[in-house]
Amino acid sequence: MSSHPSVRIHPTADVSAAAVIGERTSIWNQAQVRERARIGADCIVGKDAYIDFDVVVGDRCKVQNGALLYHGVTLGNGVFVGPGAIFTNDRVPRAINPDGSLKGADDWIVGKTHVHEGASIGAGAVIISGVTIGRFAMVGAGAVVTRDVDDYQLVFGNPARVHGWVTASGERVSSRSDVERANRAASHAPTPGAGGTERGSDQGPGSESRS
Ligand SMILES: CC(C)(COP(=O)(O)OP(=O)(O)OC[C@H]1O[C@@H](n2cnc3c(N)ncnc32)[C@H](O)[C@@H]1OP(=O)(O)O)[C@@H](O)C(=O)NCCC(=O)NCCS
Repeated sequence: MSSHPSVRIHPTADVSAAAVIGERTSIWNQAQVRERARIGADCIVGKDAYIDFDVVVGDRCKVQNGALLYHGVTLGNGVFVGPGAIFTNDRVPRAINPDGSLKGADDWIVGKTHVHEGASIGAGAVIISGVTIGRFAMVGAGAVVTRDVDDYQLVFGNPARVHGWVTASGERVSSRSDVERANRAASHAPTPGAGGTERGSDQGPGSESRS
């Protein structure tokens, strides 16, 4: 495993020697991180979470207890994954081929799922593979997400439907233009500790590029 001395890994966690863990990241009890998974800096991976091989997790992400991130998942920076959320990776799962033989790695197509910067996935949500969840989107608890979710969109239910919009801070607003307004206001707010000076950019908290 490639990791910095500031990384904290609970003795009961199973972290592959071939995983890469960023600075100051914590990995808690019984979590499993597979080979070639890449977890960014300042992340928290909760108890019993599972991070499959080749999964990518950005910086400052929170992967809560028991969340399952299967092969094919990429999380951008600052993504929240609630407890027990499941990212699937096989849209049409079968254990066996039509001839009865056990399916191997080459007998199915891995669905790729992307969650972009700042988005949140509620507790117990199920994400069907192949979807893209936009920046600062909010997926409600228990949702089954079958379609792409736009930036700042709020979705919930089974199947998940659009129920409005949220700002970067998670406040529910009634339109996309309210989101833009909130972003503009946030980008002009004084920078904490900077003596009231304004931030250089007017693109708001969602101005980082997608992962
Ligand atoms: C989706 C969510 C953000 C909506 O919050 P909200 O804007 O405060 O919504 P409200 O509580 O006002 O509910 C509005 C309506 O949506 C329904 N609703 C809210 N969340 C829902 C969900 N996850 N699934 C289905 N319906 C939901 C409510 O029952 C209510 O319906 P009603 O008008 O018929 O009574 C929130 O309910 C949620 O699921 N948050 C995620 C919590 C979570 O998983 N946290 C993880 C860390 S523990």
